Amino acid sequence: MTRRQLWGGRFSEPPAQALRAFNDSFGFDRALLAEDIRGSIAWAEALGAADVLSSQDVKKLVTGLQEIGSEVAKTGVPSDADDEDVHSFIEARLAAKLGPLAGKLHTGRSRNDQVATDFRLYVKDALAEGAAAARRAEAEAATPMPGYTHLKRAEPVTFGHWCLAYVEMLRRDAGRFDDAASRADECPLGSGALSGTPLPIDREALARSLGFLRPTANSLDAVSDRDAAAEFLFAATLLLVHLSRLGEDLIAFTSDEFGFAALPDALATGSSRMPQKKNPDVLELARGHAGRAIGELTGLLALLKGLPLAYDKDLQLDKEPVFRVRGVLAAALPALIGLVEGLHLDRERMALAASDDRLLATELTDALAKRGMPFREAHEIIGRRIAEAEARGSTLAALGPTKEITSQDLQALDVGRALGKRDITGGAAPRQVARAAKAAVRRLTRGAA
Ligand code: ARG
Repeated sequence: MTRRQLWGGRFSEPPAQALRAFNDSFGFDRALLAEDIRGSIAWAEALGAADVLSSQDVKKLVTGLQEIGSEVAKTGVPSDADDEDVHSFIEARLAAKLGPLAGKLHTGRSRNDQVATDFRLYVKDALAEGAAAARRAEAEAATPMPGYTHLKRAEPVTFGHWCLAYVEMLRRDAGRFDDAASRADECPLGSGALSGTPLPIDREALARSLGFLRPTANSLDAVSDRDAAAEFLFAATLLLVHLSRLGEDLIAFTSDEFGFAALPDALATGSSRMPQKKNPDVLELARGHAGRAIGELTGLLALLKGLPLAYDKDLQLDKEPVFRVRGVLAAALPALIGLVEGLHLDRERMALAASDDRLLATELTDALAKRGMPFREAHEIIGRRIAEAEARGSTLAALGPTKEITSQDLQALDVGRALGKRDITGGAAPRQVARAAKAAVRRLTRGAA
């Protein structure tokens, strides 16, 4: 089958099937159809404003492009479409509607600045979406639970304090998407193939008409810059890395061994073989997707490394990783948000675990040090006492006072008191956690408005 090629003139043979199979990108860049139409409409209008096209021609082109947009939105891309890429597809549809006039749209433009613009528009939306998603989080203030280091019980914290740790990570993630979005806010259109369009286009107005803050500053850079895509992938990957940590914590907390919380039924899965199972697949997938996203980010950076200026076809491979990762975020975040909101906490079991008085060994050591004993000496004494308690299957409190540890000191073995003392910015004291949670909720609702 022969097809209309955008660049056939200097060739004496049609493209080989092998070339087409390897070179065509319509299979995936059709995801940029809406952006390509938006960009083409803005370009047609810019050509009109520069008196390159008559206003009637502009009107016909714009109407034709709008029709293609709504047709495809309604019926999808026709299954027999066999085009090189999304740009050729739209141009061929436009030619079918308008005849030779369609061929005027590409005046002074190249697919290089066209695709850079389309992709920039797409990534800007993806960045805004990522920021909004990362802003959705909530907190619970004062339920004591053990805090861990090395996955060993360390010092008491509260469930709310744990929640807020993730709120902080997500807050930074949202900030990263916002930062990247402000850098991405420059329009490549008008950069031509590499040296800039020779037409007197008002690039400032063109950029604004597409919702960009300003035009890009260098045409060579503009047609080959994919920083916005790399930054999107980095922000998304780090977000997924954070979600994988959240997933891993919750896999532990909802395990039979911890039993601090139960998964909501609607966001858990069962086993086809073992009737008792209720599995945390959502959390495991979050963990797994973080690994894959690292691969996607690494892949794009490897693709960009050492690429000579300006456009090279390697750049065609920039899109799928971004499409895939955006899809992952769109599916993962609602599932994880629902799961966190629907967790059934077993506060009693958490509090029981937090009341293991070994978690308060540091408190007891501090009590001795407060009386003037060097901290190292106090650490040694309490260490020996812990070993004794463990050997006898007892607790520090039950072993009682010694000549070095007074009964006054033993009053330090109190979870509420230990928590209350962490009353500094960022600490686990319920008062601080409540304050931080309130601030976070205020920030989040402001961000969502
Ligand atoms: N499909 C191409 C891409 O995504 C469009 C740009 C083609 N430009 C070119 N000089 N071959 O990168």
